[in-house]
Amino acid sequence: MEMLKKLFSLEGKVVVITGAAQGIGEEVAKHIAAVGADIVILDRQEEKAQKVADALASEFHCKTMAIGVDVTKPEEVEEALIKADAYMGKLDLLFNNAGIVLHKGVVDVTPDEWLNVINVNLNGIFFVARAFGRYLIDHNKKGAIVNTASMSGIIVNWPQEQASYNTSKAGVVHLTKSLAVEWASKGIRVNCISPGYIYTPLTSFVRQDWQDKWKEDTPMKRMGTPEELAGAVIYLLSDSASYTTGSNLVVDGGFTTV
Ligand SMILES: NC(=O)c1ccc[n+]([C@@H]2O[C@H](COP(=O)([O-])OP(=O)(O)OC[C@H]3O[C@@H](n4cnc5c(N)ncnc54)[C@H](O)[C@@H]3O)[C@@H](O)[C@H]2O)c1
Repeated sequence: MEMLKKLFSLEGKVVVITGAAQGIGEEVAKHIAAVGADIVILDRQEEKAQKVADALASEFHCKTMAIGVDVTKPEEVEEALIKADAYMGKLDLLFNNAGIVLHKGVVDVTPDEWLNVINVNLNGIFFVARAFGRYLIDHNKKGAIVNTASMSGIIVNWPQEQASYNTSKAGVVHLTKSLAVEWASKGIRVNCISPGYIYTPLTSFVRQDWQDKWKEDTPMKRMGTPEELAGAVIYLLSDSASYTTGSNLVVDGGFTTV
């Protein structure tokens, strides 16, 4: 057990998580709290985020806070980190996860819709990572960042048309590698996870025939659960991954291998 703790414990760490008011962020936040961390949630759904923060505090006896933040607004992100640092005493790790999807073909997507997806999924990840990296550098601290990309960053999903999403996630994979190289000498590791089809509020509303096709095309013949991403995120945030940076950990039931 001591070895397990040494490998994967996040005890004493303060972890900032974006997009944890629901879905993958919420579930992964529970597991991160369960391995000993205190949690800061940044999400544009402030009330929902506060409820999740309160539930984590009462279940895991950890310190939590929630701040209403739109990740596409760099000033809001920077202010939130200052507020979080003041309340929590320090910040150590980041799970940079907020994102949206749009199922619309290229011919029909409007310029505003395209810009919105790129803004949340790519610029948002950049603004939060940059603010967090600057915080660590300014405080002379080492740390780790895990961005949520997607298997859509390396393959094109079908039958849904979602070029804006796919493009934004490909950008997240390469941004992750670029940040990893820029910040390696500063002791800041940057990795990403690329989930396959995961059953969350983002995917559960999608028409049933598409969900059936997704399962059929996945070698494991099912969608994943948010819980099945928690180990990957904790690994990449923890000291177990001390020599891992710039990697893209694909968790997709085998989807991208066929
Ligand atoms: N569900 C999947 O199948 C799947 C697969 C691959 C990748 N992902 C990625 O995982 C991440 C989480 O997805 P999910 O399925 O949990 O979705 P979700 O819709 O359940 O949760 C997304 C969260 O992000 C927040 N958010 C969205 N835009 C924001 C903004 N501008 N500022 C602040 N917060 C914002 C939402 O309020 C919500 O709480 C996303 O980046 C998504 O692209 C999901």
